[in-house]
Amino acid sequence: MDRVDLVGDFGPENEEFLSDVCAALKESPRRLPSQYLYDERGSELFDEICELDEYYLTRAELEILRRAGEEICATLGPACALIEFGSGSSLKTRVLLDRLHDAVAYVPVDISRDHLQTTARSLVERYPDLEILPVCADYTRAFDLPDWAISPRRCVTYFSGSTIGNMNLKDSIDMLRQLGQVSGDEGGILVGVDLHKDSETLVAAYDDRRGVTAAFELNLLERMNRELGADFDMRAWSYEAEYDTERQRIEMYVRSAVNQCVEIGSKQFCFEAGERILTEVSQKFTLASFSALSEAAGLQVSKVWTDTADQFSLHYLEPA
Ligand code: AVI
Repeated sequence: MDRVDLVGDFGPENEEFLSDVCAALKESPRRLPSQYLYDERGSELFDEICELDEYYLTRAELEILRRAGEEICATLGPACALIEFGSGSSLKTRVLLDRLHDAVAYVPVDISRDHLQTTARSLVERYPDLEILPVCADYTRAFDLPDWAISPRRCVTYFSGSTIGNMNLKDSIDMLRQLGQVSGDEGGILVGVDLHKDSETLVAAYDDRRGVTAAFELNLLERMNRELGADFDMRAWSYEAEYDTERQRIEMYVRSAVNQCVEIGSKQFCFEAGERILTEVSQKFTLASFSALSEAAGLQVSKVWTDTADQFSLHYLEPA
């Protein structure tokens, strides 16, 4: 057996996928909901992105976890339950779990069902004494947490990789509030936050030479072809990324090369040559701007760790 049964399955079905993409494509400017980037293929491509020379984020977060791991674990405290939103392959979390000897449970929450089940299998093998409770969910929506075999002393939600930046600012405040509710009054939130830096470094990280990021973003159109019977002609779409220095965010787009109409379900969407669809944003922060965001969500930053090059930060938040 190479998969573990889910303890909760709230993952979106095809009708929801269809209605979400159609609603987002009707918005002006047109966009696509970025949570759907992560099907099995998208999750694999994202793992590849994390290994790219240009994509410094994962290495920087790993450096923090390795260097400050003991202090981070002491902050989380004994007998905690770690609940990770958007756990992917749980690669960074393993660095934490290796040091968090007395944790009682790990709850990986991810939208990519198959990928989550395969990841959970390898976690069960690696941490036989830890309760692993995988939940498939689109964590931007409400879902139920599983019951624990042993009650934790504290719940800590982990939102790694700067996924908090993949939302607009209002949604990121709501997300922090939701993380706060899940961890509760006695709990905390460990959140990865990418830092503002020069445009060149940022654009290279989101438009790599090998084209892995392009394949990742374009896979969303291919996924619509596979799962929704859409008819995107993949030869007529390309990828581009730019940094909006004023808003301090990377914007990722797919661009139509020609005038064309695409069928998605029973709907038709027509695009002009050169028209773009926003597939993802990646907001960058300063320590001060992230602290202000946390305050807006009723939370306070009680600890911050950064990597040696000050590219990335990990924040521990508690109720204000
Ligand atoms: C998951 N998230 C933190 C990534 C980021 O850096 O914003 C998503 C990503 N998209 C393209 N490259 C990475």
